[in-house]
Amino acid sequence: MNIAEEIKKLKKERKAVILAHNYCPAEVQDIADFTGDSLELARKATEVDAEVIVFCGVLFMAETAKILNPSRKVLIPDISAGCPMADMISAEEVRALKASNPGAKAVCYVNSTAEVKAECDICVTSGNAEKVMATFSPDERIIFVPDRNLGGHVSAALAREYILWQGFCPVHEALSPEMIAQARSQHPSAKVLVHPECPKAVREAADAALSTGGMCAYARENDVPEVVVGTETGILHRLQKENPRKKFFCLSEGAVCHDMKKNTLEKVCEALREMRYEVTVPEDIASKAARAIEAMLAVK
Ligand code: 13P
Ligand code: SF4
Repeated sequence: MNIAEEIKKLKKERKAVILAHNYCPAEVQDIADFTGDSLELARKATEVDAEVIVFCGVLFMAETAKILNPSRKVLIPDISAGCPMADMISAEEVRALKASNPGAKAVCYVNSTAEVKAECDICVTSGNAEKVMATFSPDERIIFVPDRNLGGHVSAALAREYILWQGFCPVHEALSPEMIAQARSQHPSAKVLVHPECPKAVREAADAALSTGGMCAYARENDVPEVVVGTETGILHRLQKENPRKKFFCLSEGAVCHDMKKNTLEKVCEALREMRYEVTVPEDIASKAARAIEAMLAVK
């Protein structure tokens, strides 16, 4: 039996479902029951009726699935798969920010720890940030953590000032407008899509800034022969699979999230065999974080 067959067999025995983020290695995306962006995965986690969720992604995503589904067992194939940006702010730092900005609403990007979410009024993902932030009235003061780039992107789109934390994603921060200029000279008819986690100059040089799910929808819905994507390279697999007649290129081969790549087939198989690593969130934190996540999911 090969490893993919063994995973299928164990999945049935354990009554498990496998959810994978768009940045996971291609072979993990291929054995997953559902592949998506953070928002799609959070929604999916509220719909599954399996007893076990194997979450192939990074810890904050698996925590979100657990918070939304407390009665299910949530496993992550590698417990060290974290998100450096999520770790750029602590709950204590959010409390200090709120204390120095009394009355301000606190918004966190879903790329944050459960403890940080528990301190915030509402969450956003890159797929719904503009829609969620548009629900605030113009006179409200808003703290946005931890991503200065997504915060800056929404601030420009909605013409609003936010109190921004200076966190960033090291993978997207390394992309540059020079890379876009070079990609455009190599692929003159291509559209350039970048993730809102990219710096301002990169977002401004691109044709659109979209979540990974937004990039998949764009490729599906637009008659474009070539697309250059400024985000983690794992997305290319899904784009190419769903659009075999179109060509996709990455803005930088170096745009690799090593935490996402910790989700290997071997570790998915081990997770199911050994029922590890179980993701847990303390009840008091989970109930407060759930309010912020559910407030986000209620925005249609
Ligand atoms: P998406 O929600 O767009 O998939 O982004 C998640 C992420 O971690 C981007 O770096
Ligand atoms: Fe975090 Fe960046 Fe990896 Fe996304 S790509 S999980 S933001 S480190």
